[in-house]
Amino acid sequence: MSIYYSIVFLYCVLPRGESSPVTRNSVRKFPDGFLFGTATASYQVEGAWDEDGKSENIWDHLTHTQPSLIADYSNGDIADDSYHLYKRDVEMMRELGLDFYRLSISWTRILPSGFADRINEPGVAYYNNLFDEMLKYNIEPMVTLYHWDLPQRLQDLGGWTNPLIVDWFADYARVVFELFGNKVKYWITINEPKQICYNGYGDSSLAPAIDFKGIGEYLCAKNLLLAHAKAFHIYNDDFKATYGGIIGISLSAQWYEPASDSIIDIEAAEEQSQFEWAKYSHPIFSESGDFPAVMKEKIAAKSAEQGFPRSRLPEFTQEEIEYVRGSSDFFGLNHYTTYLVYRNESVYGVHPVPSFYDDIDTGNYQDPEWEAGESQSVKIVPLGFYKLLTEIRESYNNPPVYVTENGFATYIGLQDEGRVRYYREYLSALLDAIDEGCDVRAYTAWSLMDNFEWMKGYTQRFGLYEVDYESPERTRTPRKSAFVYKEVVRSRTLDLDYEPNTDVMTIDDGH
Ligand code: BGC
Repeated sequence: MSIYYSIVFLYCVLPRGESSPVTRNSVRKFPDGFLFGTATASYQVEGAWDEDGKSENIWDHLTHTQPSLIADYSNGDIADDSYHLYKRDVEMMRELGLDFYRLSISWTRILPSGFADRINEPGVAYYNNLFDEMLKYNIEPMVTLYHWDLPQRLQDLGGWTNPLIVDWFADYARVVFELFGNKVKYWITINEPKQICYNGYGDSSLAPAIDFKGIGEYLCAKNLLLAHAKAFHIYNDDFKATYGGIIGISLSAQWYEPASDSIIDIEAAEEQSQFEWAKYSHPIFSESGDFPAVMKEKIAAKSAEQGFPRSRLPEFTQEEIEYVRGSSDFFGLNHYTTYLVYRNESVYGVHPVPSFYDDIDTGNYQDPEWEAGESQSVKIVPLGFYKLLTEIRESYNNPPVYVTENGFATYIGLQDEGRVRYYREYLSALLDAIDEGCDVRAYTAWSLMDNFEWMKGYTQRFGLYEVDYESPERTRTPRKSAFVYKEVVRSRTLDLDYEPNTDVMTIDDGH
């Protein structure tokens, strides 16, 4: 940790509107070979929920059986209809001049029973057509095996809390590697373990909304890490030599800043990071592996106090620790925003016992002065991004980082000044981190276009392209941010003053 950084870390609450502690030119270049992309996920865009042999997944099930959990009672039955409109999607990738596009595979489109007993050929054809269309224009697919749409049949058997999922997921991964390994060079096993495990099993804020607090999320965490590692090893052992691709995991990590310079708040912020995301990064990227020590200690102590005969956090065997450690070619980072963290009397006893947040016992909030868009929780705090990238470099011996998501929600409308500001300031913070040695190799804007925003339905718009859900064609129209991003990709520089002409979007090939 540099002296300057320590000073900022220890003595400053985040200053507003600044992207980093260092002053730079307003036009800045990205390193050679740096990759730009955008992302979506299968359930959020594909639609065709029961077409051509696809079976029900946990999001189909939740939106159909408990629609009141979704802000606008909507679902992904049609979504952006990318299952039929994928050629338009690829056209947008060409308009933006992308190097890669990150998408996810729908498990039940490929394996309708959830198990690897029967492959659904029309589902395979869909992804082959999509990959071929992209590759025709030199746009590399970056493919996530699992972005939250678990087969409902597997959920009926406990989903991610059943240890057998390690094999179910590995079987699915092998099928996908066999089917598409010749076309896909960038693989991501799992998107955002924290959200899958905490929101899905320890809470009811994402499917399958099991809400088994203090237990469900920890069972899930161990199984998920082992499932990820197994998929990683399968690719490494049986596919890498032939296809030469790379494989990693995407972790969601926000920045947790101490709310004051008191040692108690500094410790609280550090612990919040350990619970929220190092829970998944420490087992994979640290030298020692395993869950972070502070988590193991705190959860074991609380479990004992609460009368549990063993810790609610399951243990890894030494063999499992070794199996998971190092199981990622890169650190896939999904980052959106920053929180201020504190600990005082007021944080005790406010959360259900047991629960993940009772285990952490911190409080957090966001400065009301930070700019927010439609998603109130995504506030523009680029300095947090810089600090997070620096923390990853320092904690894990500077792993290659692929930023696999970063984005901002706005209201409907094409003049998305907030998103433009967000992208500019976050890209600037990213360049600061690179200048100081962070090995960041790729950046992915979330999202290519508006899509089904989980519990928020279609009320929150994250797209560079706006999607008209009233039109059967799901017409996609570029927002100002699409033009701004296009120029970043074209010029490989960040020009903070660039004003695009938004009259007409063109395809200016190479692509
Ligand atoms: C998820 C996306 C989601 C985005 C915006 C990420 O956590 O991976 O699926 O749409 O955040 O909320």
